[in-house]
This record gives sequence, C-alpha cells and structure tokens, in this order.
Amino acid sequence: MDMQRIPAREGNHNLKNVQEMRASFKWEDLKKNFTWNETGKVNIAYEAIDRHAENPAKKDQIALLYSAPGREESLTFEQIKRESNKFANVLKKHNIHKGDRVFLFMPRSPEFYSSFFGILKTGAIAGPLFEAFMEQAVRDRLQDSEAKMLITTPELLGRVPQEDLPNLEKIILVGSDDGTSGDYINYQSEMESVNDSFEIEWVDLEDGMLLHYTSGSTGKPKGVYHVHNAMIQHYATGEWVLDLKEDDIYWCTADPGWVTGTSYGIFAPWLHGVTNVIRGGRFTPEDWYQTLEKNNVTVWYTAPTALRMLVSAGEELVKKHNLTTLRHIMSVGEPLNPEVITWGLKAFNLRIHDTWWMTETGAQLIVNLPSEEIRPGSMGKPIPGIEASIVDNEGNEIPPNQMGNLAIKAGWPSMMRAIWKNPGKYDSYFVNGWYVSGDSAYRDEDGYFWFQGRLDDVINTSGERVGPFEVESKLIEHPAVAEAGVIGKPDPQRGEIIKAFITLNPGHQESSELLEDIRQFVKTGLSAHAAPREIEVRESIPKTRSGKIMRRLLKSWELGLPTGDTSTLEE
Ligand code: WTA
Repeated sequence: MDMQRIPAREGNHNLKNVQEMRASFKWEDLKKNFTWNETGKVNIAYEAIDRHAENPAKKDQIALLYSAPGREESLTFEQIKRESNKFANVLKKHNIHKGDRVFLFMPRSPEFYSSFFGILKTGAIAGPLFEAFMEQAVRDRLQDSEAKMLITTPELLGRVPQEDLPNLEKIILVGSDDGTSGDYINYQSEMESVNDSFEIEWVDLEDGMLLHYTSGSTGKPKGVYHVHNAMIQHYATGEWVLDLKEDDIYWCTADPGWVTGTSYGIFAPWLHGVTNVIRGGRFTPEDWYQTLEKNNVTVWYTAPTALRMLVSAGEELVKKHNLTTLRHIMSVGEPLNPEVITWGLKAFNLRIHDTWWMTETGAQLIVNLPSEEIRPGSMGKPIPGIEASIVDNEGNEIPPNQMGNLAIKAGWPSMMRAIWKNPGKYDSYFVNGWYVSGDSAYRDEDGYFWFQGRLDDVINTSGERVGPFEVESKLIEHPAVAEAGVIGKPDPQRGEIIKAFITLNPGHQESSELLEDIRQFVKTGLSAHAAPREIEVRESIPKTRSGKIMRRLLKSWELGLPTGDTSTLEE
C-alpha cells in the first residue's frame, strides 16, 4: 500500500518513551497524581475543581472562558468551586442524595458547568442532555433513568413531558425572569439563598457519576453508566494525547450532551488545571477561527465534519486570522479523511491527530500521539495501558491486514460499568474477555488500526450516533406512514445522511408536501439530527420472516450493491 506518512515533529511532547511505556505501564502508576491517593477521599469534582481552588497559585486562574452570541463571561477555579458548592446546597435542600439521577437539559453556559459539578459534589449521577432534543428524546431518557430532578430553561421546558415522568420530583429553571417560577424552582433565587461552602460527598472510585444515552441498532437509546474511576484515564489521555501543559488554553468544540463534551470538554482539561474555552451557539467557519484567535487557543479538539466544513470555506479564510498560538489539533467521532490531514498541514502548518473511542469506552483508546508518526487514514495506535486487537465473532484474535471486529481487552479505567437497568445488553458487549466495539477495522504489521465501518446498522451523521430504530419508531407515529426502514447513506460532507424508506397508509398520496411534513414530524418530535434528509416511498419494506426490517437489503439497493443472502426474506 502506497501511503503518506507524517513524521512526529521535534518538540517537548508530554509523552516521549511511548514504546517503553506500552511495554511496562500500569494504571496504578498514575495514582500519585490524585489527592485521593493520600486522603482516601474521592470525588471527581474535587480533583477537577476544588483541588485547584485550594492552591493559592491556581485559584484565581481562569478556568472557564465562556462566549456565546450576546454573552461573554469567565470563571476562575475558585468561582466554580463556590458556585458548584451553592448548587450542591440547593440540591441537598431539595432532597437529592448520592446515587440519584439529576439531569441537565440546557445550552452550554457558566450555569451548566457549575450545576454539573454541584450534582457530582452531592454524589448524585449527572445526565446531560443535548439541547437540540425534542420531546420524545427527552421523555425516553428521563423515563429510563428515573431522573428525580431536571435543570432546564424556560425556552426548553415545553419539550419536557412532565405528565409522563412520575419520578421527576422537581424542575429547576435557569434564566427565568419570574422570581418564583410558579411550580418550578428558580435557579437565581435559590442560589442567592444558600451558603457557598459545602462538604463534598466522598464516594468510592466505583460509584456512579454520569449517564450518557447513546444509540444502538435496536431498541431505545441506552444509558451508558460511568463511574468516578474514569478520572484516571481522563487525566492520562489529557497528558499524553491532548498534550496539556499548565498554561495551555484549550478548546473542545463538543456539546456536553455527548461524551466528548464531558470527558474532554470538562474532565480532562480541568483535571490538568488548564483554561477551558467554552463556545455556545451555532458556529460558522468565521466564528471558529475567531474563537481560536480571540482566545489564543493552543490545543483544539474537534470533529471531521467541522474540519470538512473549514476545508470547504477555503484556505484564504484561515490566512485572515492570526492562529500562531495554536500548536495541537485533534479529531474524533468519524473517520478523518486523509485529504483533511493534508489540508491541515498546509492551512495550519500542523498535523491533525485522529482519536478513536466511544461513549461506552469513556475515554480515548486508539490515537495518534503527538510523538508518533501519523499514517493518514489510520486512527493510530492504542495508548499505553490498552490492549486492542481485531477478533472474529468468537473473540479469537485474527492476523494483521484482515478485517474483523475492533476489540479492546476489558478492564480499562474509564470503561462503562453498566447499561442502565439492562444487564443483558451490557453483557452482550463482551466476548471471550474482549469488549467488542461494533466497528470493523484491521491492524497493519506496525500496529496501526484502520477503521472500515460499523458492523451494525448504527448511523453516524456528522459525528453523531443515530439508531435507525428510534427514527423508524417516530416515523410510524405519523398518520400517513405504515412502515419505515432507515439507513445511513454515504455523504461527502456529513459522513452519512439519514435516508428513510416508507410505505403509506391507505388514503395517503405521495407528495412533496407530505414528505416534508413527515420530515418535520421527526425533527420536532425527536431531534433535528435524527430527521431523514431523504425519504423514499415504496410499495413494501423488505422484512425477514420474523418481521425484522432488512436494513442491509435497503442499503444494498440504495448503493447498487449485490444483495447477498436473502434467504430469510419474507415472501
Ligand atoms: C465512530 C464518540 C472512525 C465509531 C467519542 C464509534 C470513529 C462511534 C472515530 C462512537 C474515529 C469514533 N474514526 N470512526 N476516530 N471515533 N468513531 O459513542 O463508529 O458518539 O463506534 O463516541 O463513532 O460514537 P460515540
């Protein structure tokens, strides 16, 4: 195979003797970096925020550098400590205890981050929801988690189906002008009524801290359950992969409704005590460059879909900005096109480092390290402490250059510890001691991993995971739709787009108005990113004899590929 290789640059990378470390590193080696190693008292909120606030040299450093259209604000470590203490007191006053689920459904804002740490300080489990979710998506997640409390805004309240949520005791409204907020708790007035000191609920490393819902190929979204112990790997990858140093100004573009926005938008940077840039609102390429320039960002973590957008906007736009502080770029979420890496070398004079991981893995596993050669198109190599391989369906390792299941030897620090209320689903991830990712890949002779695709029907549109079942379920709620089958269709900009095949109920005629109405129905009921960009009306939807929609067949038809084995197809 003729491929380009981009050598590591000389420089003061945090991780130098990678080969040596891969051979000898043990996760225990990192314990010395945490206060709990001495005190025996654990809480990730303490390690990320309070520890720095107690350090006279760091307490007044800006931790959060926030900007959104119409609002700019910064908070020091000391300020986040106090604000999150206050919020923890509010939660305690309203009967929140260790293990309770408290959800956040709001845009990125300083209040979001203070509330998030306030939740963790009480020992409760935080559940951040992406602000673009509509009613059905919100209902599914709050019902499944049996959330006791929700923090949201007056604008988003209408998407919270309170009558269907018997476990939801209270709602806190952020940014309500109304001093009392009616039946709701007013964030502002509650925060004014409480003390800014709080005795942190010390927990066990294996106690829960976070629930992230994510899509599979069947059923409703699953609650991926993470524990405080994940901090060990957030810290390690913050040092090795993000290459964070104390004076860095770091920007992760992901929303905290997705795992990248928590593991790398919150934990990794603040465990390292760096200044964290948070940008709310929608971005144009111009906004991205302005954010990098204005804040003197040094380390930037983003996604292929955003990078492809910047490539389309052209190199001229880059040159209009002074980006000289930028020294390190990373990408996650979908395959990083080699052309984008080549473009990055020209436009930024920097390498773009791909990283591979999943909601379930809690932190990065296979990456391009700053101190290693990049082979564009490859996701890189496992970080120290991680054993990755390609296995067959029985969990046996297969030789280099053959495609199979990308798998990780189970037991790394940030691995999910459960699928919420679904032990069977959790167990199904593990075969013969391997966590099987659902991605197909191969490994070359030098140990680089090359992503090939998903093995199931999960769709990856602009880096966001969408389960076809969720979209199909919503589609058939529309009065005109009888049956639906949903697939991912390759798209140069978005990776994949969502395409739906439907059959119509008697009495309904295909028209562009009807199709648009159906699209809007999914968009307003579920979320914008789950709405099909293409809808095709058919006479029938192919199903197996047991009634399962044959998405694979739909996809083969769509792509004009051979249809393979159709022996289970219903007559
Ligand atoms: C895909 C995001 C190719 C993959 C942190 C994985 C990638 C799924 C990459 C997880 C990458 C993630 N190259 N594909 N570097 N990173 N993926 O849970 O299919 O939203 O299984 O986690 O995204 O998506 P999730």
